[in-house]
Amino acid sequence: MDSKQHGELIDRYSARNYAPLPVVIAKGEGVWVEDVDGHRYLDMLSGYSSLNFGHSHPRILEAFIEQARKLTMTSRAFQNDQFGPFCKEITEFCGQDLVLPMNTGAEGVETAIKAARKWGYKVKGVEADKAEIICCENNFHGRTVTIISFSRDPQFKDGFGPFTPGFKVIPFANPQALEAAITKNTVALLTEPIQAEGGILVPPAGALKQCYDICRKNNVLFIADEIQTGLARTGRMFAIEHEGVKPDVLILGKALGGGVYPVSAVLASKEILGVFNPGDHGSTFGGNPLACAVARTALKVLKDENLPQRAAELGEAFVARLRTIGGNKIKEVRGRGLLIGIELHESAGVAKKYCKELKEHGMLCKDTIEQVLRIAPPLVISQKELDWSFERLAKVLG
Ligand SMILES: Cc1ncc(COP(=O)(O)O)c(C=O)c1O
Repeated sequence: MDSKQHGELIDRYSARNYAPLPVVIAKGEGVWVEDVDGHRYLDMLSGYSSLNFGHSHPRILEAFIEQARKLTMTSRAFQNDQFGPFCKEITEFCGQDLVLPMNTGAEGVETAIKAARKWGYKVKGVEADKAEIICCENNFHGRTVTIISFSRDPQFKDGFGPFTPGFKVIPFANPQALEAAITKNTVALLTEPIQAEGGILVPPAGALKQCYDICRKNNVLFIADEIQTGLARTGRMFAIEHEGVKPDVLILGKALGGGVYPVSAVLASKEILGVFNPGDHGSTFGGNPLACAVARTALKVLKDENLPQRAAELGEAFVARLRTIGGNKIKEVRGRGLLIGIELHESAGVAKKYCKELKEHGMLCKDTIEQVLRIAPPLVISQKELDWSFERLAKVLG
């Protein structure tokens, strides 16, 4: 079947909850993908940062296949021989005491919310059912009913009420607003270190550290959603390291699954994740042996290939180069590591228009908010491939 026939099938049989570019990918290797019509494209989205290692990374694929041959699924009703080593390795990797594995990012966020609430009642002493969590304007944490209850985007909420109470929304990375919003019932601040879906918004230096200090002073948990920014994407293993902060609760997803399998995890101290008792919370697939084997290898590859440093060096040079593109379309280039946003002037039209054009030049990109084009290639991209993409970006956006 060619891409047109695939498109017709998808239009006919799939719910229309996405509006993808008209490209039907059939193969992927490294930073390149190929569609069913034989066209090759450079992948500049990386599955929303799930593909930090590129497509089909040999070591990750090998771990996946080897484990799939042995044992794929047990459920946590029994133990499996990948789970213990995974828990030890990921907690040491993240500098936390305990881990609670899930599958998708949104489940990780839900888990962190439940942990913070229960910690509030059991440890902090908040009155039953009064716990409040502070979130940030312009956030993106996923799509469950509870998470969209504090979403930035009216479209995410439209038609899906009633919503979950217990959340307050303040401006992003705003210490004054945080201080003003905290009450005796506040259990946590939930924040992304960089708002990725919100338009690649990097907070002013030190602002999140100040928020962290305010949390400390008020016995409020600082929850970092590093689902998109974590695992080397921004030039550090975790984006919150740019602020010198170690979060109380860390949420990982996307790249933790090496681009081959959904794996998410919540990490925290014994005091926080220790509030869960058997039966309080769980997931059929969370912590399964295939997920654990893949995640263990992903964590090793991050270190062995020195991906944080690679993202930092390539990203810094690429941002500097993008800033040299002249013309009247680009308003600002911003980002950290290889999480880069190109904001366009309104007069230039919406970013999606340029994603379509770039596709014709062999590059797959995705807008974030209307005016922002996101550049987030696999971290294994070479300088030569970045040069290749620069030429195309300069042509289309210059
Ligand atoms: C910061 C952040 N949190 C949570 C999520 C939700 O992850 P998932 O789509 O795996 O549920 C995303 C997805 O884009 C994200 O970027």
